[in-house]
Amino acid sequence: MPKTSRIPGFYKLTPEERLRIVAEFAGLTEEEVDLLRRFGALDESTANRMIENVIGAFQLPIGVAVNFLINGRDYMIPMVIEEPSVVAAASNAARMTREGGGVYAQSTESLMIGQIQILGVKDPHGARFEILKNKDEILEIANEKDPVLVKLGGGAKDLEVRVVESKLGPMLIVHLIVDVKDAMGANAVNTMAEAVAPRLASIAGGRFRLRIISNLADKRLVRAWTRIPPEAVGGKEVAEGIVEAWAFADADPYRAATHNKGIMNGVDAVVIATGNDWRAVEAGAHAYAARSGRYKSLSTWEIDEKGYLVGTLEMPLAVGIVGGATRTNPLARICLKILGVKSAKELAEVIGAVGLVQNLAALRALAAEGIQAGHMSLHAKNIAIMAGAVGDEIDQVAEIMVREKCVRVDKAKEILERIRKEKAKR
Ligand code: MEV
Repeated sequence: MPKTSRIPGFYKLTPEERLRIVAEFAGLTEEEVDLLRRFGALDESTANRMIENVIGAFQLPIGVAVNFLINGRDYMIPMVIEEPSVVAAASNAARMTREGGGVYAQSTESLMIGQIQILGVKDPHGARFEILKNKDEILEIANEKDPVLVKLGGGAKDLEVRVVESKLGPMLIVHLIVDVKDAMGANAVNTMAEAVAPRLASIAGGRFRLRIISNLADKRLVRAWTRIPPEAVGGKEVAEGIVEAWAFADADPYRAATHNKGIMNGVDAVVIATGNDWRAVEAGAHAYAARSGRYKSLSTWEIDEKGYLVGTLEMPLAVGIVGGATRTNPLARICLKILGVKSAKELAEVIGAVGLVQNLAALRALAAEGIQAGHMSLHAKNIAIMAGAVGDEIDQVAEIMVREKCVRVDKAKEILERIRKEKAKR
């Protein structure tokens, strides 16, 4: 019988029952099933409530980056990431920024955009004015949906109406601007967008289709900047190298993608650690980087008249400290406690600062010794483990591979054999 993935009622089963079916389907060993079954800190019932069809909990390391001084306050930064070197690089570059007083960051209000698409309008420009004329009524309909948010000072605050040319002709796109305060905001915004759509369509004399948040959260920006004496990064030449690296990213989308990826190494690691939606943050970041029509660097690096290296970063950052996995995932709650942030704005500022520092770390390494030097020693340790090294052998094998500039499993096996033979002789 061919295997089938058509399993009616799969969602109604317990995680254990689902696991059995998956194990059978994929030929998992008892050992593998056991690993999946070990839910860990995210226990089975919590995980089973977070998403559908749960069979286990995936784990990634939580590292803590140190040395961060942001807006004059010391922070320890929990980072969840699979890539070696990121946490070490962040800590290292954060130490450099301290020489200039750390990183400063500020954020705008927590304003998110809900989009409502109105079609079939004969006079879109006239309808635009008609909708704007009725702004107060629309905002009231939206705010009725979330009295708690309104009580906290948030809620729907403004309307923008755009006439967007499309392959199907002009569309009326209404932006409902909502202050979501300490939440990421998708739930509140989507609920409000759905609530106002029928009234908008009737005012415009058309019909509505999509009603959904925009992840290009360009009214919820974070700005981070730092000013560092050149000696802190390794001297004038390295500082100039960092600026040259930035100019490359600013001019060339192929480089800008990698440059911004380096920023997102830091940003995502904290976004994930705090239980936030990293796909939303990623989508917003890259759309913002392309806002001029060409994809560009999210950061800038310059040298000021005193010879100091000045870095800035500006990007949308829709993160929350209430709602969703920030509360349901106990590890996210603990990471938020380690950070000690009191508001979503403060969290965004910390994350923006981490993004800038991570960018500094990458550009500094690229401009000075090259990225592989730092990456190699951790990578070499992983390769040594893959070759079968245990305990002290891991560092010994890794060290020799890095010294000999040859980091490969076959090489690691050869070194390991040599070390073991020598040890046996002693
Ligand atoms: C690697 O994860 C990130 C870098 O490629 C970023 C960059 O090139 O700026 C080192």
